[in-house]
Amino acid sequence: MPPVEPPPSRPLPEGFLPPNCTFSEQDWPVLARQWFPVSRVDEVPAKPRQVILLNLRLAIYRMPDGIRIGRDMCPHRGLPLSTGRIEDDELVCAYHGLRYGSDGQCRKAPEKLALKTVECFRITMFPAVEHHGLVWTCLIPQGEPGIPDIHSTIEASDPERPASPIKLQYEDWMGSAKFEFSEGEITIDPEHHRSLQDLALNEYQRLFSEMGLITTAPALQPSRA
Ligand code: FES
Repeated sequence: MPPVEPPPSRPLPEGFLPPNCTFSEQDWPVLARQWFPVSRVDEVPAKPRQVILLNLRLAIYRMPDGIRIGRDMCPHRGLPLSTGRIEDDELVCAYHGLRYGSDGQCRKAPEKLALKTVECFRITMFPAVEHHGLVWTCLIPQGEPGIPDIHSTIEASDPERPASPIKLQYEDWMGSAKFEFSEGEITIDPEHHRSLQDLALNEYQRLFSEMGLITTAPALQPSRA
């Protein structure tokens, strides 16, 4: 598993919940410790793009030294960084022009703002780990990335293999907590899916199918005679 780089800067405060959180106070921190794929690697744009994970708005973007994921909220006045741009190795907020480095630290502000210091402006950053063509992140990372072993998922796409291992794997991974995954304007509402596990599998099916790794998610195939 590749190392987590860079380490998250200014982690979310203890007891944090996203605004208008639809998860309970108990569920959210449990889910926030899990790792989720938020984009295909080859779809990460040079310009920041918003991704919503567990009700938290993130900005994902590509810097010269790698993919970065930060909270989609400028530390200056709280406006979305996903409307900004990448310029000279820095993320530039579209509103007042504060410039942030790869680590989320503000490096410079326009002179007209007359800020005494920019040191206090720092984006909350999250790890971005590339694995099997996907970008994985975790909102409350602890230790090594807990990314599911998708080797067995790929192997399970062999039609000669039974479908049950993949389903068991994700049941184990996701536990019984509620789960919501949304990307861009596409939001998947868990209430409209048969189960938590099917939701996860449907998302993987879409992602893996697009990458050509799996043509059909085995666990969702009708049982063979
Ligand atoms: S809100 Fe980003 S620079 Fe002011």
